[in-house]
Amino acid sequence: MKKPKVYITRNIFMEQEAALSDACDVNIWKQDTPPTYHLLMEKVAGIHGLLSLLTDRVDATLMDAAGPNLKIISNCAVGYDNIDIKAATDRGILVGNTPGILTETTADLAFALLMAAARRLVEGNDHIRAGKWKTFDFNLLRGFDIYGATLGIIGMGRIGKALARRGRGFDMNVIYYDHHDGPEKGNPVEARSCNSIDELLTQADFISIHTPLTSESYHMIDRQAFGMMKERAVLINTARGPIVDSEALYEALSSGSIASAALDVTDPEPLPPDHKLLTLTNCLIVPHIGSATIVTRNQMASMAVENLLAGVGKQIPPHLVNPEVLSRRR
Ligand code: GLV
Repeated sequence: MKKPKVYITRNIFMEQEAALSDACDVNIWKQDTPPTYHLLMEKVAGIHGLLSLLTDRVDATLMDAAGPNLKIISNCAVGYDNIDIKAATDRGILVGNTPGILTETTADLAFALLMAAARRLVEGNDHIRAGKWKTFDFNLLRGFDIYGATLGIIGMGRIGKALARRGRGFDMNVIYYDHHDGPEKGNPVEARSCNSIDELLTQADFISIHTPLTSESYHMIDRQAFGMMKERAVLINTARGPIVDSEALYEALSSGSIASAALDVTDPEPLPPDHKLLTLTNCLIVPHIGSATIVTRNQMASMAVENLLAGVGKQIPPHLVNPEVLSRRR
């Protein structure tokens, strides 16, 4: 019997490669940068399963280029804004993701960014490396206290709650805003829910974003939102770049209308080396490494492979984004 064909858009795993090759005819894009959209269109022709990363745009046209064999798109990420879920569901294609395992790792990075921005760690490091450390300077790099400050969390899902626990552990006052209700949400211990995002924006000293990118959250943090923040506000984004209007962010940071920002995600991504945000000393940026620990990335790869194998084997993937597809599978 012929093995199902799968295409993997990056070399993300080593451990499962043998097991996967036993079950499937595997094709892996081995370069460091992703295949272009047009190249991907050619590569996916006739496949049964696609293992994608968040850098791959998987839209209706790509699904149609893959053709009717395509049963599963397994995204190796918790977020899936790169995939047109409706188009997949309409075509009877399962979509899997990697929730849960990266929660604590991503919350760690969000809190690391918060602390680094509050205490100006990167500026301090740059100061020394530039040969500017002449003496103990009483006025140098004064930052903000973390203890006693108000942490405002936008989006109280798994990662938001994990960040809330870290904030409480550092004696912060935690507030949050979440416009979704559901079993994953609910009030974590000792965090106060805000009735509106404006309430959070005006009260928080540190604002951290943990909401998915959707048409509703696109540019949620715009000029008006920055205008509501305190002058000492620090913005942390480990969710998705386009939730923040980059132009408005640049204005807020360069005019001093907020104190600083610490970003794991940007718009555009990657940020070109000559981007104006990189000219600002009060903007700390790391290259989308929220879930990048050895253990977590291995677990994500395993989970994505598990979803992929289930999908091509006509089983239900353990982490399915569009369960409604089960009633209309071809
Ligand atoms: C990373 O950003 C993810 O969605 O897993």
